[in-house]
Amino acid sequence: MTDKYAVIGNPIAHSKSPQIHMEFAKQTNQDISYKAILAPLNEFEVTARRLIDEGYKGVNVTVPFKLQAFLLSNSLSPLAKAVCAVNTLILDRNNIQGHNTDGIGLINDITQNLNTKLQGKRILLLGAGGAAQGVLLPLWYQKPKQIIIANRNVDKAVELINNAQLTEPLLIQAYTFDDIPYEEFDLIINATSASLSGEQLSLSDILFNENTLAYDMMYGRETPFMQQARANGAKATDGLGMLVEQAAEAFYIWRNVRPQTAPVIAMLRNHN
Ligand code: ATR
Repeated sequence: MTDKYAVIGNPIAHSKSPQIHMEFAKQTNQDISYKAILAPLNEFEVTARRLIDEGYKGVNVTVPFKLQAFLLSNSLSPLAKAVCAVNTLILDRNNIQGHNTDGIGLINDITQNLNTKLQGKRILLLGAGGAAQGVLLPLWYQKPKQIIIANRNVDKAVELINNAQLTEPLLIQAYTFDDIPYEEFDLIINATSASLSGEQLSLSDILFNENTLAYDMMYGRETPFMQQARANGAKATDGLGMLVEQAAEAFYIWRNVRPQTAPVIAMLRNHN
């Protein structure tokens, strides 16, 4: 019997998740199917419950349903609970389990694929929406020296820090883009949604140098953020590796097998 999986989102047509998971399945000899499913904006729960009735074993959840997936879960992984967002569900009629693999995906891409350790490093996180919230704690667990969160609306950055409920002395600070203190940042992550619309962030060139890794969580094209980073001598990457790594973690949660990510990242880069 083929086990059924899917990704639910809106929009969903351009999702690479089916391709990624079917590559993982081929690689690890798992008998699964994986579909992209468009849920109407007000019908996430109806859609998830229909999939349970149809025998689906698990789903990935993408924009804009991660909070609704969190609310639907009967039990939560510690990280999903902490970030109040779920991107991976194990579907079981009696116990829907919610996980969040986004942050682990980012960390694995940076530390393993890009070979950049984060312990003792200075990190600038741009944005304070859902994407930033999903990665803040996993970044913190890497024991960086400092995390600065910059957002147009600084109150949201302050709220993000307060909600994270960190117990250790706060080396996380909130600023607007204009006030970011000049530091030698080792890593600058663009977790704003500005790249989606091709917008340039109003960031000073001085923040980037040849020791900086600039990471845009968006994937699929060279963004203005990546261009600015490269123009100032920094290394820059998009979030394709994060996408594949978060999928690998979800695949592991469902199948208890770890797929290799490097060939899948390479395949997606070559095909686009
Ligand atoms: P997501 O789930 O992708 O994080 P979101 O929760 O709507 O989406 O958050 C979008 C983030 O991108 C916010 O931090 C937003 O900044 P504001 O809170 O100040 O609105 C940020 N953002 C979007 N467009 C931006 C732009 N052009 N410049 C700077 N920040 C931008």
